[in-house]
Amino acid sequence: MNDPRVEVVWEDGGDLARHGHDLEERTADPHVLPLIGCADGVPFGYFEVYWARENRIGPHYDADDYDRGWHVAIGEEAFRGRGWITAWLPSLMHFIFLDDIRTQRIVGEPKASHAQQIRNLDRAGFAKVKYFDLPHKRALLVMLLRERFFADQLWAPEPVTEAPASEASAQA
Ligand SMILES: CC(C)(COP(=O)(O)OP(=O)(O)OC[C@H]1O[C@@H](n2cnc3c(N)ncnc32)[C@H](O)[C@@H]1OP(=O)(O)O)[C@@H](O)C(=O)NCCC(=O)NCCS
Repeated sequence: MNDPRVEVVWEDGGDLARHGHDLEERTADPHVLPLIGCADGVPFGYFEVYWARENRIGPHYDADDYDRGWHVAIGEEAFRGRGWITAWLPSLMHFIFLDDIRTQRIVGEPKASHAQQIRNLDRAGFAKVKYFDLPHKRALLVMLLRERFFADQLWAPEPVTEAPASEASAQA
């Protein structure tokens, strides 16, 4: 939370006592599921999966009972970048859709100016729905449909596009 790139978005910088308190609060809140992501047993990121209708996003669109949303913080530099995000992001979406089969939509509310994450979400299959205002930010409502996730097999990373063999040998 004290990594500058995380702090600027979460505004939750502070000491261990504060973070312990925040985690206790989130763990006790039935509308939020706090998660720590691990790769080969090494913790690399923090996620909060929430029930959208009971969350601050709920009043801003026609939320269904089982829509879910999520927040993320990857504070570890070593776990940033394409190789990691193409693994954890679709995996988390897959988990959310499998966790409750009634969940038809996953939503998010990145800051409207957070172009990098909006691009990442677009590549992960999220539609851009509308801009709206929260007390602390102008946000973009994004939405991933269960139908799209499974029909387009979005749990699999995009294939790496390589130059055709003829082009590659011409370049050599
Ligand atoms: C936002 C955040 C989760 C992004 O994770 P990251 O590991 O930093 O990933 P990046 O944004 O650097 O993107 C990695 C690359 O993967 C690419 N990528 C993302 N999704 C992809 C996909 N589905 N297929 C292929 N490539 C993809 C991106 O285009 C980017 O490539 P580029 O560097 O060539 O543009 C992370 O930086 C973070 O936690 N930031 C602080 C908190 C925050 O902003 N939370 C989100 C609030 S909405």
